[in-house]
Amino acid sequence: MAFVLKSLILGLALNTVAQGDAPQGGWDIIVVGAGPAGIIVADRMSEAGKKTLLIEGGGPSYGITGGTDAPDWLKGEQNVSRVDVPGLYKSIFADQGKLTCQNETNAFGGCTIGGSSAINAGLFFQPPASDYDLYHAEGWKYKDVKPSIDKVYAKVPNTDIYSEDKKLYLQSGYDAARKWLVDGANYTNVNINDQANNKEKVFGRPIFDYDNGQRGGPATTYLQDALKRNNFKLVINTRVKRIDRTGGLANGVTATVNSTDVTYKLNPNGRVILSGGALQSPQLLMFSGIGDPAIRSNLTAGGMLKDVTQPWINNTAVGDGLFDNPNTFIEFEGSTIESYVYNYTDPIEADAKLWLDSRSGPYSFASETSSFWDIIKHSDGSQTGVQGTIDSAGFGTYTSNQTITLNIYGTSGLKSRGKVVFNEKFQPGASPETYYSDPRDADDIATFIFSIFQKLDASLLKPLNIPLNSTKNEIRDYITSSTDYTRGQVNHWSSSCRIGSCVDVNAQVVGTNNIHVVDGSIVEPLTVNPQFGIMIAAERASELILKLNEPPCED
Ligand SMILES: Cc1cc2nc3c(=O)[nH]c(=O)nc-3n(C[C@H](O)[C@H](O)[C@H](O)COP(=O)(O)OP(=O)(O)OC[C@H]3O[C@@H](n4cnc5c(N)ncnc54)[C@H](O)[C@@H]3O)c2cc1C
Ligand SMILES: *[C@@H]1O[C@H](CO)[C@@H](O)[C@H](O)[C@H]1NC(C)=O
Ligand SMILES: *[C@@H]1O[C@H](CO)[C@@H](O)[C@H](O)[C@H]1NC(C)=O
Ligand SMILES: *[C@@H]1O[C@H](CO)[C@@H](O)[C@H](O)[C@H]1NC(C)=O
Ligand SMILES: *[C@@H]1O[C@H](CO)[C@@H](O)[C@H](O)[C@H]1NC(C)=O
Ligand SMILES: *[C@@H]1O[C@H](CO)[C@@H](O)[C@H](O)[C@H]1NC(C)=O
Ligand SMILES: *[C@@H]1O[C@H](CO)[C@@H](O)[C@H](O)[C@H]1NC(C)=O
Ligand SMILES: *[C@@H]1O[C@H](CO)[C@@H](O)[C@H](O)[C@H]1NC(C)=O
Ligand SMILES: *[C@@H]1O[C@H](CO)[C@@H](O)[C@H](O)[C@H]1NC(C)=O
Ligand SMILES: *[C@@H]1O[C@H](CO)[C@@H](O)[C@H](O)[C@H]1NC(C)=O
Repeated sequence: MAFVLKSLILGLALNTVAQGDAPQGGWDIIVVGAGPAGIIVADRMSEAGKKTLLIEGGGPSYGITGGTDAPDWLKGEQNVSRVDVPGLYKSIFADQGKLTCQNETNAFGGCTIGGSSAINAGLFFQPPASDYDLYHAEGWKYKDVKPSIDKVYAKVPNTDIYSEDKKLYLQSGYDAARKWLVDGANYTNVNINDQANNKEKVFGRPIFDYDNGQRGGPATTYLQDALKRNNFKLVINTRVKRIDRTGGLANGVTATVNSTDVTYKLNPNGRVILSGGALQSPQLLMFSGIGDPAIRSNLTAGGMLKDVTQPWINNTAVGDGLFDNPNTFIEFEGSTIESYVYNYTDPIEADAKLWLDSRSGPYSFASETSSFWDIIKHSDGSQTGVQGTIDSAGFGTYTSNQTITLNIYGTSGLKSRGKVVFNEKFQPGASPETYYSDPRDADDIATFIFSIFQKLDASLLKPLNIPLNSTKNEIRDYITSSTDYTRGQVNHWSSSCRIGSCVDVNAQVVGTNNIHVVDGSIVEPLTVNPQFGIMIAAERASELILKLNEPPCED
């Protein structure tokens, strides 16, 4: 009862602020952020009959979402924007348009319908069972998430034959890498998702979540299903500033639309689900007065808490444990290699025609030709995952016609953990400890590079930025030094609001009654690129949240 009274008072206090149009009595579910996780959770909530509002800070992306940004050569196509063409993936680094979070985060990412799934390469790898059994909390083991994996497969098409003419393009890098790793280093050639649990010395073609030669993913599948329901609403260009709450009970959210504040109200049994990604969900919790008390004076001094009238909720795990893959680029040259550079405005005419006529050719994929994994085992029984992905072109100062790039990542089991920290504009980013703060991580990645270098014939592929005869220690020193090829951010953000500390098993923020985080934040470091695993987490969290009883009254 006390709660009802307080929320009435709150409602009066806010009567000068516009009310977002809402169903009678408020929303059952407000989801903040239309990335892969937010789209899935909003689809599942609305499917279960909940009156669901999905709020996205950014604007349109794919053609079917209203996106129109495109180079001239695409202008004749219906419902096609630059986002829909897989081969234009890298152009977003050069010309971000309105798709990215450049004004929102101190990192590169997508702030648009689809989140980073609208700007990423579309690599779509199922995490191995060990990622759940070794690293995730009870309730999130492989047996618990297996049905969620099946649900993702049932909704989202994916393939390793991306070109609609069923031909493979730009294969010179693949051919050389297979000779090196499969013929020379005893890697097993597999279909990566058919043998998802096997990540020890495996090699294969990348799997992508493309559909009919165009970018696919949650925005072309789950979101389209949700939009058909009349209990679902998507609002865009609407950035949530804070959760309105009475103690630990959320009553709604306040957002900025066209520089005006708008409140969206929850009904008394409703829930707020934050899906802003692993940098921005912790930010929104802190801006709502929920987080580590140590950050409070900084936020107060910056004026960020001036509209937060309720007592601070201590939760030191908000933003703590942030993960990203440490990355190293290795540039290779080889006499059999023909590199390929994509071009936004002026693609090779025949290649543009292939895509326009039949959704085929180089523009039907984002340039990765091969991928491989291994496991580094430690004497204490623990292990670290390591991954390589090969691209069709060189990078930096190594851009001859016969150059390709290998991205080396450290993955699951890495021990370095960072934090979400703010810059002077209060944009969230990664603290320096995110990469290599635990020396074991660099040692593991150097071990991996050293081991594959031992099996490489320089007449097939010659590494250009690090000598093939380097010792393991030389490799370790190189990958941890700051160069254009090392220490780059991959922007695979995860693990900043982990299950068991920041949120409970139901993805509910510890210290609150009805506030959840469902996105990369709640996922432990994975062996593979994170999008598939984040989608699995959204399916699993949706099941758990739908099972929860109505939240108890405050007091
Ligand atoms: C360049 C790049 C390439 C990548 N390539 C791959 C790949 O090939 N394969 C792969 O598996 N992964 C890849 N990733 C990673 C993958 O895209 C992300 O892990 C994934 O998109 C994260 O999903 P998410 O739901 O956690 O959040 P996000 O995708 O970050 O989505 C969050 C959304 O919430 C919105 N939002 C945030 N805060 C607010 C707020 N306060 N109010 C309103 N809206 C808000 C944002 O605008 C954004 O649209 C890549 C990432 C990048 C940046
Ligand atoms: C384009 O999108 C609109 C709106 O979703 C749809 O009605 C139309 O059929 C689409 N056209 C094509 C060619 O896909
Ligand atoms: C970022 O902010 C600048 C300055 O306010 C503005 O000109 C630009 O359009 C903004 N970019 C996006 C993507 O919103
Ligand atoms: C090659 O790998 C297989 C497992 O895939 C293993 O049984 C075999 O011993 C390996 N051979 C060498 C020479 O390492
Ligand atoms: C914001 O302003 C734009 C341009 O004036 C308008 O089209 C849009 O509907 C406005 N959005 C809201 C939610 O009022
Ligand atoms: C929150 O943390 C602050 C600072 O450590 C402490 O003073 C306060 O008592 C804590 N509040 C609660 C409710 O635990
Ligand atoms: C794209 O092609 C144009 C015209 O040939 C050229 O000027 C430009 O440099 C190319 N861009 C890239 C990124 O290669
Ligand atoms: C690179 O190769 C392409 C064709 O594969 C050719 O058109 C181009 O002239 C070559 N560039 C150089 C610098 O050799
Ligand atoms: C808050 O902390 C950030 C990061 O340390 C710093 O850049 C900023 O100046 C601080 N702001 C205030 C108002 O103390
Ligand atoms: C690698 O080879 C170069 C010359 O080819 C030599 O100078 C260097 O000492 C070698 N490094 C190691 C670690 O053997």
